[in-house]
Amino acid sequence: MKSRLLRTAALLSALAAIPALSQDGPPVTEVTGDRIVNADQEPGNWLSHGRTYSEQRYSPLDQITTDNVGELGLGWFADLPERRGIEATPIVVDGRMYVSSAWSNVYAFDAKTGEPLWSWDAGVPKIKGKDACCDVVNRGVAAWGNNIYVATIDGRLVALDAGTGETVWDKNTIDPDWPYTITGAPRAADGKIVIGNAGAELGVRGYVTAYDAETGDQLWRFYTVPGDPSKGFENAAMEMAAETWTGEWWKYGGGGTVWDSIVYDPEQDYFYLGVGNGAPWNRDIRSPDGGDNLFLSSIVAVKADTGEYVWHYQGTPGDTWDFTATQQIMMLDLEIDGEMRKTLVQAPKNGFFYVIDRTNGELISANGYVPQTWTSGIDMETGRPIETEGARYPNPDEPTLVFPSPFGGHNWHPMAYSPQTNLVYFSAQEIPFVFRKDTEFEFAQGRWNLGTRFEYSSLPEDPAEVAKLLPLLKGRLLAWDPVKNEEAFHVEHPGPWNGGVLATAGGLVFQGTPGGEFAAYDAANGDKLWSTQTNTGVVAGPVSYAVDGEQYIAVTVGWGTVFGLIVPGAQEPRSRVLVFRIGGEETLPASEMAAAEWPELEEVSASAEAIAHGKSLYLTQCFMCHGDAAMSGGVLPDLRMAQPEVHAIWNEIVLDGGFNEKGMPSFGDVMSPDDAQAIRQYILARAHATRPKD
Ligand code: HEC
Repeated sequence: MKSRLLRTAALLSALAAIPALSQDGPPVTEVTGDRIVNADQEPGNWLSHGRTYSEQRYSPLDQITTDNVGELGLGWFADLPERRGIEATPIVVDGRMYVSSAWSNVYAFDAKTGEPLWSWDAGVPKIKGKDACCDVVNRGVAAWGNNIYVATIDGRLVALDAGTGETVWDKNTIDPDWPYTITGAPRAADGKIVIGNAGAELGVRGYVTAYDAETGDQLWRFYTVPGDPSKGFENAAMEMAAETWTGEWWKYGGGGTVWDSIVYDPEQDYFYLGVGNGAPWNRDIRSPDGGDNLFLSSIVAVKADTGEYVWHYQGTPGDTWDFTATQQIMMLDLEIDGEMRKTLVQAPKNGFFYVIDRTNGELISANGYVPQTWTSGIDMETGRPIETEGARYPNPDEPTLVFPSPFGGHNWHPMAYSPQTNLVYFSAQEIPFVFRKDTEFEFAQGRWNLGTRFEYSSLPEDPAEVAKLLPLLKGRLLAWDPVKNEEAFHVEHPGPWNGGVLATAGGLVFQGTPGGEFAAYDAANGDKLWSTQTNTGVVAGPVSYAVDGEQYIAVTVGWGTVFGLIVPGAQEPRSRVLVFRIGGEETLPASEMAAAEWPELEEVSASAEAIAHGKSLYLTQCFMCHGDAAMSGGVLPDLRMAQPEVHAIWNEIVLDGGFNEKGMPSFGDVMSPDDAQAIRQYILARAHATRPKD
């Protein structure tokens, strides 16, 4: 009865919303499950995160082709005010574009003209940025009914009126006592909005929740790791999972956040969840007597109706390297050994490209798509990786170099599949990481808790060494044959962390680079056919749509993201939506990047020992925002360039929360005034050592 009343109320409010149709921009049309299932019948739209529920990111539009792509030009662009990392996939419904920006803010545009229709400020307090491991990014919105849904960095799921941007409902999805964030795009299916969360670097317990699209009522919640056994298990799956854990993992949360991929399969009526790393990263600390630690680093299938566990495949049992399996899950029907198989494919951080039977979780094939030092391959009998001796960095005296790194052989950057070439295209990369067990580990609620000493993976201090090292980090557009499970070809890029990919029926593949290039490649062989410079980093997944019979290519751009915060190599953090069309003649304003201005530098006055202490603290508490080795990526302040006035109030900023409102956390609860000054002296030492000599 209640739900009927609510439905009637929702209907009435939908009727009441009709005047919105007379607003600026094309009329709002209702997005239904049937429309998304039959998305190929309306190729001009991009109704859901991966365009179709299969998440193949293939546009059937074919006006822009290998022949005419050279005439592609900027049709319109829109500035987003946030100037932090931009990872969002736009949603386009009948000429209206909806896009999320950093801090989970949402913007609606007329997709043809770029005219702004409305904007919505998520109102996230800046200090919440301290819980975001990987910048205050957002990967996109979902459309259902006449609403647009966004999940916020402070853990809310919000329904917005697609016509006006007004809030329809706003639900908190997290326990505020734990440092949860949300960066992923919600998925809309079967009348539900499904969302996970993030926070395993700091320490949380992952879960996925389904809400009623109309009312925002919670329908089900699936935890991905077990909680404290003494409190009882939520379900049989958690009881089974708990058998694979040891120690008192629940005190650290355990991890397993589902921060990106969630895929709806209308045929099986399942959601496939990509589950993340352990919290802390180091299994020796999290689960000291070993164990696979289900469902970390797994794909888990749950029933769409109830959230009940169906099957799982765990790629990295007992993860100890931050090898999330949150990366994009794509549904492909493939002919393998003469048989049509309903598969899922995934290229998670651990470096294996997996092909899995999506009806039962059976591993069909796996192959390394980048060099891997932690494993020598998969035992196909058991589906388990064969681990390399010593890869789990058991000896604190032996820092252990591992490929791939926590940045992943591939990360969240969306992949695309073309049915014309039968290839999967994605951003693959080679970045090493040095793990070393943290023997002094102490869990600190709301701080990074990794269990490995980051300083051993830090860049060298000498800028000349850094300049030699950075080119060794590699990245490429990889075209992968999912049937043979091997590379077809690749396009080498100047470095790693390249953008998401779009494939189109014009025989093209589009991808950006953190260096600001946005380019079109021939899907058949990787020849570069067109490119443009965007003056900022391009890492999001592009989309294609059509309005009034004309095809557009759209991509959100903006430097930042985890890589942009940590790795030096400044880029202008300019957030924008760029939309290209044949014959487009718009031009972007020139870059406003100014040359760094070095202040008058105070002399270093601390002992070498104090500076080493400051370095160690910096590389535990500060590097994730201000950059590795005190060299900023150009998004948040480069502390080496702090003015004397800032040095004068250093402890107020670092310990007393003086800059809380700007998003600078206070560390008074975890460090002393001497500690803060040791960091200051380390920064000064770095400033003197790296400042250009005149
Ligand atoms: C969660 C991200 C984050 C972390 C972690 C972080 N900071 Fe900051 N910091 C900020 C932001 C955001 C600002 C303010 C940016 C602005 O001015 O808008 C800032 C500003 C500062 C400033 C002022 C700089 C200036 O020139 O105005 C200092 C000093 C500073 N941080 C020191 C530290 C130290 C030391 C640590 C580690 C103990 C640290 N920060 C950790 C985000 C962070």
